[in-house]
Amino acid sequence: MKIIDNAAEMRAWCREARRAGKSIGFVPTMGALHEGHLSLMRAAAQGNELAVASIFVNPTQFAPHEDFNQYPRTFDQDVAMCASVGVVAVYAPTARTMYTEDYSTFVTVGGVSEGLCGGSRPHFFRGVATVVTKLFNAVEADRAYFGQKDAQQCAVIKRMVRDLDMAVEIVEMPIVREPDGLAMSSRNRYLSAEERTRALCLSQSLFAAQERLQGGERDAETVKDAVRQGMQGVKIDYVALVDAETMRPVERVERPVLLAVAALLESARLIDNVKFDPAGNGGSLT
Ligand code: PAF
Repeated sequence: MKIIDNAAEMRAWCREARRAGKSIGFVPTMGALHEGHLSLMRAAAQGNELAVASIFVNPTQFAPHEDFNQYPRTFDQDVAMCASVGVVAVYAPTARTMYTEDYSTFVTVGGVSEGLCGGSRPHFFRGVATVVTKLFNAVEADRAYFGQKDAQQCAVIKRMVRDLDMAVEIVEMPIVREPDGLAMSSRNRYLSAEERTRALCLSQSLFAAQERLQGGERDAETVKDAVRQGMQGVKIDYVALVDAETMRPVERVERPVLLAVAALLESARLIDNVKFDPAGNGGSLT
């Protein structure tokens, strides 16, 4: 396992691998790895000759009042987990090398980054788009893997890659859930046992809404109302039913949609979603 902490060395490593005819699959992470990350890494290792991951807690995607300092940092354990699923190199830059004191360049993706998490966390997607661009410039991969758990993040990155002609294919992988339905997240470890039980209402209300959609319900307000009703145990940040590609709200479900929720518990903000295609086999995209 190679651990590389600067962009020049990382790029040189990738170029040498690609000169030798090897394809590279890349999984960007902020560490605190769980089975959801490992599913991305397994896909990267299976779909490419070499799998690379990055571990970097990106300060620019946190607002000053958010959990940047508290965010779990479990580097040694993360590296061992990466190795266990076939990752051969980890890019782990320092904040100082990523963002020099006079750093002043940011990437802003319009449209898809507005609303949903972009509404509640206005700084977030600018930070994500900027760091992912920097990571893509260091890890010159053929494919990069992201989880549908952060569906709007996937939409933002796909749009950025398309608009800026970036030479990497974005692969979106399904949400990995605990046996009781809770979407896996590094922030789940903040939850008390009682909060974790309450958090189940996110996935439960999404699954119930998905059944309604599969049963033929097409009115967005009706679907969202049902989800809100099901989320009484938590403080709702948003319940959104949007076009799966543009992230624009829909009134009726007539094309692939994303039904997404965010909720605030005392110790963590959680997000979850399901996708649904009215024309698809059985209706559900995930
Ligand atoms: O999804 C994440 O873990 C982060 O937003 C990412 C893509 C690694 C950028 O910091």
